[in-house]
Amino acid sequence: MLCIKCKQTAWVEVRRHHSAFCRSHFLDYFDNQVLKAVREERMFTQDDRILVAISGGKDSLALWDVLLRHGYQADGLYIDLGIAEYSDHSRAKSEAFAAARDAALRVVELEQDYGHGVKGLAQHARRVPCSACGLSKRYLFNKVALEGGYRVVATGHNLDDEVATLLGNLLHWQMGYLSRQSPVLEATHPGLVKKVKPLFRLTEQETVSYAIIQGIDYVPEECPMAQGARSLVYKEVLNLLEKHSPGAKHNLLLGFLEKGRPVFREVDNTELRECEQCGQPTTTPVCAFCRMMDVVRLREREPRSGQRGRRPHAAAPSSEAVMTTADG
Ligand code: AMP
Ligand code: FES
Ligand code: ZN
Ligand code: ZN
Repeated sequence: MLCIKCKQTAWVEVRRHHSAFCRSHFLDYFDNQVLKAVREERMFTQDDRILVAISGGKDSLALWDVLLRHGYQADGLYIDLGIAEYSDHSRAKSEAFAAARDAALRVVELEQDYGHGVKGLAQHARRVPCSACGLSKRYLFNKVALEGGYRVVATGHNLDDEVATLLGNLLHWQMGYLSRQSPVLEATHPGLVKKVKPLFRLTEQETVSYAIIQGIDYVPEECPMAQGARSLVYKEVLNLLEKHSPGAKHNLLLGFLEKGRPVFREVDNTELRECEQCGQPTTTPVCAFCRMMDVVRLREREPRSGQRGRRPHAAAPSSEAVMTTADG
């Protein structure tokens, strides 16, 4: 197979675009897809300060790499979730990446600031870890960005992530989430920072290829607590579909964004107010994160044997605006 640009031996095949590229032309392709997403979805400009949410994985590090190479003012934010060696490894990779490029990385430690890592929060709040984790991340992305004066938070969600989320939302007809499924969520309240996903046009495999070509040292393993997550099943199903019908994932997501997004957008008329406890925007008097923390503090005070007695209500699954992404 030959590179469609220079006819040298191809290194990456992109079947859905009927293309193949050598290493150098693949980098051009990757950059162009990111820059096209940024431009067409009006994500940010060179004048904006961007906070890139860095997990230490291939996607967020690849995204940060592209933005820095193109001169964007992009700082990183790493949230240490306190997930044993997984967090230690991913934090070390994120810090090494930042140091090698002389880039600024903010680090927030869940355990230090909120008394528990994700596992402890989940146990006390009687939530599954991924739910406590997603809620904490979304809350902190917005809080840190707002306090740091950033105009936009960028995450490394790729095409596979987005289409798996879309499938999950469609299977359950999650109208609220469908109305907010978009690579751009505008700041619809002074307390909200804009959220963007500049890799939404690129697949997981393509970000792996980019990271390898660029020599990015990332954490290859998935979070140990994500095992059995439903999104992994959706990804498997979608990969099977893609194998038989190249372009299926791209068509489903891009088709939804073009044709479905305007229809579903009308569903989203949620009124925002400030959380009575922390001031972050929410649709309920107290935001989901503060409600989770209230339950956690209550349980911390419970005597061990008391756990068998009357239980306080667990935080309800939230639908407020701090949870502005449809995933995670
Ligand atoms: P995930 O929800 O783990 O698939 O991650 C999706 C995106 O969220 C990543 O590409 C990152 O941009 C961001 N992210 C995930 N984990 C962290 C973390 N611990 N700290 C900061 N950002 C994160
Ligand atoms: Fe959130 Fe694993 S990264 S539970
Ligand atoms: Zn080439
Ligand atoms: Zn709050």
